[in-house]
Amino acid sequence: MKEALEDLRRKADDEIRSAKTGEEFISIKTRYLGRKGLLTSLLRGLKDVTPEEKPVLGKLSNDIKKSLLEKIEKALEDITSSEKHSSLSKDRIDVTLPGRGVRCGKIHPVTRVEREICDIFSTLGFSVVEGPEVELTYYNFEALNIPGDHPARDIHDTFYVTDNVALRTHTSPVQIRTMEKQSPPVRIISPGKVYRPDSDISHTPMFHQVEGLLVDENITFGNLKGTLTFFLRQMFGSGTLLRFRPSFFPFTEPSAEVDIQCVMCRGAGCRVCGHSGWIEILGCGMVDPEVFKTVNYDTEKISGFAFGLGVERIAMLKYGISDIRLFFENDRKFLEQF
Ligand code: FA5
Ligand code: MG
Repeated sequence: MKEALEDLRRKADDEIRSAKTGEEFISIKTRYLGRKGLLTSLLRGLKDVTPEEKPVLGKLSNDIKKSLLEKIEKALEDITSSEKHSSLSKDRIDVTLPGRGVRCGKIHPVTRVEREICDIFSTLGFSVVEGPEVELTYYNFEALNIPGDHPARDIHDTFYVTDNVALRTHTSPVQIRTMEKQSPPVRIISPGKVYRPDSDISHTPMFHQVEGLLVDENITFGNLKGTLTFFLRQMFGSGTLLRFRPSFFPFTEPSAEVDIQCVMCRGAGCRVCGHSGWIEILGCGMVDPEVFKTVNYDTEKISGFAFGLGVERIAMLKYGISDIRLFFENDRKFLEQF
């Protein structure tokens, strides 16, 4: 029995020496040390040996088992670590490669100009309020003195949602919403998106306006002119050429539009200004008494002015951009310039 054990140890050692892969080592382990393995079955013979031999052979077989196990475990460990090593050296990290860089977002030029407009009016004591983009036609038209059969409705081509709900065509409905809730004095501006089915180099179907409304005792057209002139000089510099041109809005009387000299051609006339040398940037006027009546303001006591600015137009003039559609193409090369 002793010889059989020694013999087994020699054979196993030989096999371990010539084995190379993890699989081979595992198969050696099962063949010799497994539950039905060669050593296990040899040990069954232990019950037939003499009592003197038993402890000696028992120890010998334990030693063999231990040493085989150790050799196999060690070999398996070496294999895993060398596999790890070779895979690590294969996909090596090149620490000299330039980094990816963190791309930083920027404020869109339209948002930037919108904030600048609000900041200037804030210094004059105007507070900022907002209104819904999906609006009742009552607020967008009727309450602003534009009845359903009025030809002025044609001025504003409209995206309708239902008969009496539409995407607002201007920010003027916020005037009504504000005056319904608040009694005079009122001094607000309201920035936001408006929608009209319009598209060319100076019109887009969605654009931004900033509405302004000031109501108090003794407000005159002079106050309106002074306020807007102050604003435009802050925005474009003190030498800015602008003109107040008589106009018509159903909700103001008298009304005007303000044009600013075209920065593209310096007044000579070009495609951007429709060869007139001027670009219209806002509409304004004294609030029509009809509008005050709708919100139950006392027209004997108070008066007020209102205006609506086109934010993209102001941004185009400020940055010398010749096509309004550039703002909405999300071309990074364009946007990164601001
Ligand atoms: C109005 O929308 C009036 N609610 C303005 C107003 C308010 C008058 C308060 C009186 C009192 P208008 O349709 O002209 O007016 O538009 C105002 C400004 O928005 C224009 O001067 C122009 O700068 C800009 N605008 C108009 N249509 C477009 C468009 N499709 N794309 C870009 N900007 C536009
Ligand atoms: Mg107009």
